[in-house]
Amino acid sequence: MGTLQTSTTIAVIGAGTMGAGIAQVAAAAGHPVLLYDAAAGAAEKGLANVAKGLDRQVERGKMSAGERNGLLGRLRTVTSLEHVAPAGLVIEAIVENLELKRQVFGQLETICAEDTILATNTSSISVTAVGATLKRPHRLAGMHFFNPAPVMKLVEVVSGLATDQAVADTIYDTAAAWGKSPVHTRSTPGFIVNRVARPFYAEALRVLQEGGADVATIDAVVKESGGFRMGPFELMDLIGHDVNSAVTCSVFDAYFQDPRFQPSLIQQELVTAGRLGRKSGRGFYDYGQGAKRDTPATAEPASAPGQVTVRGPLGVAEALVGLIQEAGIEVIREEGEGLLQAGPALLALTDGRHATARAADAGLQGLVAFDLALDYAKATRIALAPADQTGPEAVRASVGLFQALGKQVSIIDDVPGMVVMRTVCMLANEAADAVNQQVCSAEDVDIAMQCGVNYPRGPLSWAQTIGLPEVQAVLAGLVASYGEDRYRCSPLIVRKACAGGIFHA
Ligand code: NAI
Repeated sequence: MGTLQTSTTIAVIGAGTMGAGIAQVAAAAGHPVLLYDAAAGAAEKGLANVAKGLDRQVERGKMSAGERNGLLGRLRTVTSLEHVAPAGLVIEAIVENLELKRQVFGQLETICAEDTILATNTSSISVTAVGATLKRPHRLAGMHFFNPAPVMKLVEVVSGLATDQAVADTIYDTAAAWGKSPVHTRSTPGFIVNRVARPFYAEALRVLQEGGADVATIDAVVKESGGFRMGPFELMDLIGHDVNSAVTCSVFDAYFQDPRFQPSLIQQELVTAGRLGRKSGRGFYDYGQGAKRDTPATAEPASAPGQVTVRGPLGVAEALVGLIQEAGIEVIREEGEGLLQAGPALLALTDGRHATARAADAGLQGLVAFDLALDYAKATRIALAPADQTGPEAVRASVGLFQALGKQVSIIDDVPGMVVMRTVCMLANEAADAVNQQVCSAEDVDIAMQCGVNYPRGPLSWAQTIGLPEVQAVLAGLVASYGEDRYRCSPLIVRKACAGGIFHA
């Protein structure tokens, strides 16, 4: 079937946040678009919102007045569902309610031609369930846009049990023609993004719950070392804890309470207290007038070591060697297992265990674990976790070393896998399970996480850079520390670690 031609009419049902945005995207691509909403005046309001957004773009010089007028000329509101009969593709974006969605699609089947493609923008309802009461469930697929639809590139094309592959392919090709980055996914709870993103919030909440570091420090480390655009707590505050917690709970229940997705008591407390985030003026942070923004824990200046001994290859942290030399510190290389000796300090990239357990097991003196960075050269902050046996001189020497490389240093408590490492390994673990369970391809899960939630790298590609045996070791370290099934390693990581460690080129 291929891409729908721009002469094909697109209908959008529901003119709220998502529907209005989707209608704008389709009209921008050149289609005639019909916008319908059941609430009186809602379609006009949706259209007015689109016009307002376009006016701003014209003011900022991002769009010509001619383009604006052309786009709005293709967008028309209709007052009855019957009026969408000419549409070749109908995208439903009404309230998140299975019964109402089934009713709408049931009516559409009697209104539209048999070969009309039906799509739902649902973010959490099974496409199989929506299709189950239809006469032609093979014509239905998910077309899941992200908010704001005109800006976010990702579209998850969701196939239910009955969805015709040609229908999914047409939606995919059409989304690509609209300038989006589509991915294919089977209809499983959370699809790709809302499933694979869970550990981004969950691991930060675990570190907080265990007193590993405070909210502002965790956010700072995730951004400044991990390269994520927002910290997990800032992002939860923005999404709203009621919404974020509801997604977590629904995914947890949908996977039959798999401990991988276990919700957080800390977040539940916030919801109970009405601290829903920015929208209520308070979440993890206080957004009230005059409220002081919490600042991350940052170590006082310490002196740089004159010399560092690098024992063995540092793997994903190897770039540190060049940075140390550039900082004018003498580097001596010796055989070993990937350790940095700086005076009394022995530094090692976290391997998923408590640094305390590692120091005890290997008889290491002055052990200080450091966290994963997306790019050690660009990172502006690094987290350090001293083992309980490590004395203050070794901690100061470690701080001095990273400060000499131009980094701020956050000392955190000795939590297994620290902050960035455990987060990235658990994101990759969930991504690998989605691939292993035939939900999506390895390429698509990486596209989805980069285009749907702005991750700086796809989790599988990131895991390849860390090294799959190392990722497997971090997860084993987490299992050893917690004894929880939550951290079990995906069979696909186990398998790929034995065979070159590549998910995709
Ligand atoms: P919204 O509340 O802003 O808009 C929903 C609109 O649907 C309202 O204008 C309402 O009057 C209309 N409506 C309700 N029942 C209707 C019916 N039977 N027929 C026609 N119109 C009807 O909701 P929003 O946020 O736009 O969400 C819509 C859908 O998109 C939901 O399924 C949601 O899960 C999904 N979604 C939402 C995202 C978001 O960030 N808000 C992101 C991705 C998907």
